[in-house]
Amino acid sequence: MRLHVLSLLALCACVSWAAVISPHHMWSKLILTHHWPNTFCSMEHCHPNISYWTLHGLWPDKGMDCNSSWHFNPSLIEDLLPDMNKSWPDLRNRSSVSFWKYEWHKHGTCAAKAESLNSQHKYFSKALELYHKLDLSSVLVKFGITPSDKYYPFSQVEGAIENVYGFKPKIQCVHSSKGGDFQSLGQIEICFDSDFTLMDCEKQSAKETFAKTGWDHFRGAKKASGFSVCDPDIPVYYPPLP
Ligand SMILES: *[C@@H]1O[C@H](CO)[C@@H](O)[C@H](O)[C@H]1NC(C)=O
Ligand SMILES: *[C@@H]1O[C@H](CO)[C@@H](O)[C@H](O)[C@H]1NC(C)=O
Ligand SMILES: *[C@@H]1O[C@H](CO)[C@@H](O)[C@H](O)[C@H]1NC(C)=O
Ligand SMILES: *[C@@H]1O[C@H](CO)[C@@H](O)[C@H](O)[C@H]1NC(C)=O
Repeated sequence: MRLHVLSLLALCACVSWAAVISPHHMWSKLILTHHWPNTFCSMEHCHPNISYWTLHGLWPDKGMDCNSSWHFNPSLIEDLLPDMNKSWPDLRNRSSVSFWKYEWHKHGTCAAKAESLNSQHKYFSKALELYHKLDLSSVLVKFGITPSDKYYPFSQVEGAIENVYGFKPKIQCVHSSKGGDFQSLGQIEICFDSDFTLMDCEKQSAKETFAKTGWDHFRGAKKASGFSVCDPDIPVYYPPLP
């Protein structure tokens, strides 16, 4: 029953999104999404052996699959590949090329409506640049938030990020009711305006979160929809590598 309601909500979201997508509607916000590999891999088949926040995507707030004839071509970003491999890996696959292709088609072709991102090289290099500038992993360490067996108050995690960047992130968790209520830190979004200046992200309702994560995961969408906005009243688990 619950599943039916959720798929209905997702469907409604699709319909309203479709109405928004039009070549005349430029996006106004970019969302840089990070994953904590160990949490992501608690839902997916993967063994990343990665102990830093990885780049997952650079998503404009409007539009998806904006130009299906603009094919991804990794030779255009050859100089970026060593960094892409490290910073933007497909956590489920040794080769990340099909993941990058997916992100380009779904989000990059829409981001490319802005002159500042109107090539594959501009899109991928800007995402990497923003990711390195933010340096999320170090920010958390600086505030004493490191992967460990202890739990952190949610406000401490959110506070650290807000303190450094000066803007509100959107922080998502994987929730578990097994063995008591707890949530694992999994996805952190940082938002930029069209001039790549930091801005607040909005917390979305559960409905929107479902629709968005359901869409934004490459394969295995159902499993990956386990991310939702962290509950501020429940301590956060930041799982270390096994
Ligand atoms: C994981 O990475 C560490 C450090 O790079 C390395 O020493 C270790 O052998 C790796 N483990 C596996 C299972 O790949
Ligand atoms: C879509 O991409 C192709 C290939 O790069 C390009 O020639 C075409 O102008 C693009 N169409 C739009 C509407 O941007
Ligand atoms: C990126 O990683 C893949 C898979 O591990 C590897 O085959 C490729 O040589 C790497 N490319 C660069 C430029 O590091
Ligand atoms: C892993 O990547 C390869 C090369 O891009 C691709 O052919 C394959 O389908 C991918 N596997 C999965 C499970 O996505």
